[in-house]
Amino acid sequence: MSGARKRVAILVSGRGSNMAALIDAAAESDYPAEIVAVISNRPGAGALDIASRAGVPTTVIDHKAFGSREAFDAALDAELTRIAPDVVCFAGFMRLLTPGFIDRWEGRMLNIHPALLPSFKGLDTHARALAAGVRLHGCTVHLVTAEMDAGPIVAQAAVPVLDDDDEDALSARVLAAEHRLYPRALAMWARGEARLEDGRVRVAEEPEPSSPLVWP
Ligand code: GRF
Repeated sequence: MSGARKRVAILVSGRGSNMAALIDAAAESDYPAEIVAVISNRPGAGALDIASRAGVPTTVIDHKAFGSREAFDAALDAELTRIAPDVVCFAGFMRLLTPGFIDRWEGRMLNIHPALLPSFKGLDTHARALAAGVRLHGCTVHLVTAEMDAGPIVAQAAVPVLDDDDEDALSARVLAAEHRLYPRALAMWARGEARLEDGRVRVAEEPEPSSPLVWP
């Protein structure tokens, strides 16, 4: 992707702190993407207020109003088709989507996951990282594919796990990293500096190989 600012729709279900980080980043004039819509599957999501205050149009598609996954996904597909985004960013969007929906939007959907994939797919990532005794934990921005949390990885950020960490302390540290990583990964994707090639993400310019992140 390159050229004009890319149109981005954000899908949310909850408090929306990653969505807010993307909206803030896109407020900069040189950011390569604009946030054109926020869609929530939960009417009470805190994200909706934040988006409205930032002047971003919001839509609620309440999954409880639909009799099947297919019916919800068809409504989501119709709304996204109307919005015509170049990129759909999942930001705490807590719905599994049907293969038909994924097929239509694959290659255009990014997600942020609160772990260093492929470790700790799914829920409760911080508790499981603590239980496993890993020394480094973090977050991953990846393309969304039919298999949950398994799509090609765009970018990752690592944080140390401290001896006295509990779930709250660790999740706060990872969340701060998420807020840095997601806007950066979206910018690279929107500029075409990260792109899919043979099922893997390639980056235009690799960083200088430097010392490993060693902890402790
Ligand atoms: C984040 O930790 C994200 O990685 C995960 O769900 C959480 C959403 O938080 N997918 P927020 O709604 O962005 O604050």
